[in-house]
Amino acid sequence: MSLGYFDYNATTPLSDGVQQAVQEAMQIFANPSARYQKSQQAKQLIQSARIGMGNLLGCAADEILFTSGGTESNNLAIRSVLDRFPSNHLAQQHVITTAMEHPSVLELLRWYQAEYGLQVSYIKPDYEGRVSVEAINTAITAQTCLISLMAINNETGTIQPFEAVAELARQHGIHCHIDAVQAVGKIPLNCHELGVHTLAFSGHKFHSPKGIGGLFCHSGCTLAPLFHGGGQEGGLRSGTENTLGLSGLATAANECYEHLEQQFRHYEKLRCLALNSLRQHQVAFTCNGATTDIHQAPWTLNISLKGIRAESLAARLDLCHNISVSLGSACNNNKTQRRSHVLTAMGLSDQQIDSAIRISFGRFTLPEDIDHLAAAIASEVQVLLRMAPARRQEQESVYES
Ligand SMILES: Cc1ncc(COP(=O)(O)O)c(C=O)c1O
Repeated sequence: MSLGYFDYNATTPLSDGVQQAVQEAMQIFANPSARYQKSQQAKQLIQSARIGMGNLLGCAADEILFTSGGTESNNLAIRSVLDRFPSNHLAQQHVITTAMEHPSVLELLRWYQAEYGLQVSYIKPDYEGRVSVEAINTAITAQTCLISLMAINNETGTIQPFEAVAELARQHGIHCHIDAVQAVGKIPLNCHELGVHTLAFSGHKFHSPKGIGGLFCHSGCTLAPLFHGGGQEGGLRSGTENTLGLSGLATAANECYEHLEQQFRHYEKLRCLALNSLRQHQVAFTCNGATTDIHQAPWTLNISLKGIRAESLAARLDLCHNISVSLGSACNNNKTQRRSHVLTAMGLSDQQIDSAIRISFGRFTLPEDIDHLAAAIASEVQVLLRMAPARRQEQESVYES
């Protein structure tokens, strides 16, 4: 499946196995809450998805709660912690997060700040996009009730020190929520070993359909439902279950679980190939993200191309080569915020940010796709530089340096 598609961090194509599972589930139309026999198959399907996710996350099936995806799961986890307090006590509560979280965390916390005066510390990452455990430790106060941290950043692929932060939170008796949307299905995760209270995932990031995801919730931890209604998911997430989505999720979870290591090696090879290929094509670029391999997700390559407007490059790659890359985070629909909040928080210059593209690969990316991509970038960079000769010198000087 060669698609000229390099935006796997935004969403992933369904695998053949997932497509087949969804097709088969189309016949299973009965409402899982009904009592007749026809609903049994639907109930079983939900249970398979719960078991599959439990295996993938190293937890019991009944610690998995299904939602519509990462945004809802982050909201559910964070609101469950904060809504335990009477609203007039929230101004005395304190939350620690980072300045580079997904909007489903940042916007929610900003809302609590504006509405109730909640105190929030937004820890800044370093130049490579990683927050330090020490900075989080220093920010802890007697009022800290929640630490919310992403496992892997969606724009740069920088792996955060989430294991150490979970341990720190445990020592202080603080709720630890991990937004693992970019990590689940790609790296080994064991919620019990991590000792986190809640952990969010989203199916469409690992080859399952969109609109399905969930939350690991430690058995000792109480959630406050966002929706009230028919009492599905143990009363924690009312609404008739998304059986089609869950059928895909079950298969996607099993496929990832079986091939986790092999997939990771594939990403590592692709990243190496992409870097070499861009250099061979004499593209002048700098990498945004971690310089140490163990802190960098190999499926993400965020690069700045000096003297190039990322918007123009991405548009030309799309229109002239049918190649899809992202400018930053595709999840951010807020047109008023033009510059990436992640790259800004890392301290990159406006020029580095405006020239940054995110290339993200996946299971179906082939080595020849990478060659094709590097050749297309090289040729379009030349076109753009011919259009703006003054920028050519800037590109050349980066390449020489
Ligand atoms: C880190 C992170 N968290 C949360 C989300 C939101 O997930 P969803 O699209 O399932 O709402 C995304 C989406 O890209 C993400 O990258």
